[in-house]
Amino acid sequence: MKPIKAGLLGIGTVGAGTFQVLQRNQEEIRRRAGRGIEVTMVAARNLERARAVVGAGCEVVADPFAVVNHPEIDIVVELIGGYELARELVLQAIANGKHVVTANKALLALHGNEIFAAAHAKGVMVAFEAAVAGGVPIIKALREGLSANRIESVAGIINGTTNFILSEMRDKGLDFATVLKQAQELGYAEADPTFDIEGVDAAHKLTIMAAIAFGIPMQFGSAHIEGISQLQAIDIRYAEQLGYRIKLLGITRRTVVDGEEGIELRVHPTLIPSARLIANVEGAMNAVLVQADAVGTSMYYGKGAGAEPTASAVIADLIDVTRSATVDPYSRVPHLAFHPTELADVPVRPMEEISTSYYLRVTVQDQLGVMADLTRILADAGISIDAVLQKEPGEKARTDIVIITHQTREKFVDAAIGKIEQLPATEGKVVRIRLESLG
Ligand code: HSE
Repeated sequence: MKPIKAGLLGIGTVGAGTFQVLQRNQEEIRRRAGRGIEVTMVAARNLERARAVVGAGCEVVADPFAVVNHPEIDIVVELIGGYELARELVLQAIANGKHVVTANKALLALHGNEIFAAAHAKGVMVAFEAAVAGGVPIIKALREGLSANRIESVAGIINGTTNFILSEMRDKGLDFATVLKQAQELGYAEADPTFDIEGVDAAHKLTIMAAIAFGIPMQFGSAHIEGISQLQAIDIRYAEQLGYRIKLLGITRRTVVDGEEGIELRVHPTLIPSARLIANVEGAMNAVLVQADAVGTSMYYGKGAGAEPTASAVIADLIDVTRSATVDPYSRVPHLAFHPTELADVPVRPMEEISTSYYLRVTVQDQLGVMADLTRILADAGISIDAVLQKEPGEKARTDIVIITHQTREKFVDAAIGKIEQLPATEGKVVRIRLESLG
């Protein structure tokens, strides 16, 4: 059988990795796919650098539309990132009847519903394993490996940059700004790290996982997103003293509140018991924990970024698309795991309605009755205390009281925090970090 022809849009780190792994493992890949996979065309901004990567035998062009409009290209591999140009190119490729492989989580989280509808109408595939957790095959696991299950929740460390920063802050007792600077010098963090450190990148990936886990449309706009830029080293230390580690988690979960089904979709710093496997995922590694009714708990761990780990996912998609290209579209694995006519319209729950446990740090003047006031406010709000840590008073008789609550609703905690901040002995704002036992 003739090799299938792929065209790459972008040949940066991931594109070059994809090209190299395809070449190196071409014989194994051919045996798996049932036919060869050849990259015959590449669109790049820097033509000279692209030619140095691909060599002779692969056409290098400046205009990415020349790839998506080329009659001999069967699969377009979108690796340019960003929103608008990528959206136009992907929709044009689909309109031309080409299959698409993309690593672009931002594109899918925001425009996935439009893109999958267009692909469905045209009978082509859009594959995106590399969009979530790089080389970790979590899309395959959620969509196919766990397809017998009712998935209850997905919780993941899905941004390596922030996990690296949090590991360094904990290990070395450094503050956020110092570690971010080091991460940029080492090339871990982008020159503009906003999407990583503010949780946006993780929320893109979480939105995609929620859609596949629960059979719902992409709802990035409803995700709650908090990053790690406001996290203080002292809270990492107190959490550790209480037996927890702080991770930036993306969490999505089905819940029923007052008889109504809803989906939690949230990214924020989270205390996790130190004994949990996922609490020990350090550095730039990624991990995703899935709870499902039949299999129970399973965890997927590996490199979430980098040239060859991401290429591994891109090429797995190329192989899948190659195998399924001749299959009747109705019989292929659906893009979002469930058949498009079977997507559910379960709403994403507002944050005030979520239930979890909380770490609260209150800085107070060490006066008679302060602890009693705090505990009374929490008890009046129906919030039960799990643990308390009080440090000896320091400068100006000021001290920190750290309280871990049992599970409660966010709106009760918000109301209690409002009252605690009104107490005469309270100084400044209460620090509140959510806690997940992940048991
Ligand atoms: N910037 C991402 C991270 C990798 O730090 O994990 C690509 O999604």
